[in-house]
Amino acid sequence: MSASAGLSPATLSALIALVRKHTGIAMSERKSILLERRLRPRMQALEIGSYQAYLDKVEQDRAEIPHFIDLVTTNDTLFFRTPQVWDYVEQEFLPQWWQTHQGKRLKVWSAAAASGEELYSMAMLCEEFQEAHPGFSYQIHATDISQQILAVARAGEYTGRSVERIHASHPDWVKKYFKPSAKGLQVVEALKKNVELAQHNLLTLLKPHKQFDLVFLRNVLIYFDQQHQETVLKQARHSMAPHSRLILGESESIGGLDTAYHFERPMIYSMEKPG
Ligand SMILES: C[S@@+](CC[C@H](N)C(=O)[O-])C[C@H]1O[C@@H](n2cnc3c(N)ncnc32)[C@H](O)[C@@H]1O
Repeated sequence: MSASAGLSPATLSALIALVRKHTGIAMSERKSILLERRLRPRMQALEIGSYQAYLDKVEQDRAEIPHFIDLVTTNDTLFFRTPQVWDYVEQEFLPQWWQTHQGKRLKVWSAAAASGEELYSMAMLCEEFQEAHPGFSYQIHATDISQQILAVARAGEYTGRSVERIHASHPDWVKKYFKPSAKGLQVVEALKKNVELAQHNLLTLLKPHKQFDLVFLRNVLIYFDQQHQETVLKQARHSMAPHSRLILGESESIGGLDTAYHFERPMIYSMEKPG
């Protein structure tokens, strides 16, 4: 593309509006360089010479929308991201849930799962808990708006920082739950047996209707404005059992929002008022 085919203020505004329409993400006009960098390879692949022409394509061709969503979402994640959350799940949430729910199946939702490190971290904790507590069973439902990143989660194959992180934090579990792969490490099939993945936009109601015991909604609210944050939190409530817990990201606080969740401790919220 020639330098003259840069992103004009009008096209930038229209693209930002389109990002918001399809994902809820509130992108700042200051992110124009990021947007240009992300869209350019796709435009080159389609031989589209201007951002306005690409905007027209997304508006007119429904088949382009999933590609557009893949390009504008940020999918950073890690195994056992924010270790204190995982300490809470392992040492408090799971034992307490098991005490009151023996014979039931734990239902977990990894909403905005990205490439899957969060859901497989949970699966490893559940497998370990199951070894120590025969009879325990679990199901992890993982969703994301991006089809492309869900395909990575489905494959469960990891490289780079993700691999370094799990080697450093859980070397024994690398041997137990991963196998070497061409790219780095791949989770073993046994870790996928209680996992289902599906595309879902958090601004909408999750279907089919389920009541989860634990919901990870981490590092996604930060991308939305207040109105959409409230919508996402309201929609998530419909999928949460009365005794359930909601886990947010480290830099996400919902104290100032109009929601019916109760603060339990940093990052952890409940549906019912803590007793
Ligand atoms: C930074 S990742 C968070 C991954 C993981 N939860 C964590 O904390 O490590 C944010 C994810 O949110 C997804 N996302 C963005 N907007 C969404 C929406 N409206 N509905 C569902 N997922 C969305 C992106 O595709 C991306 O994979």
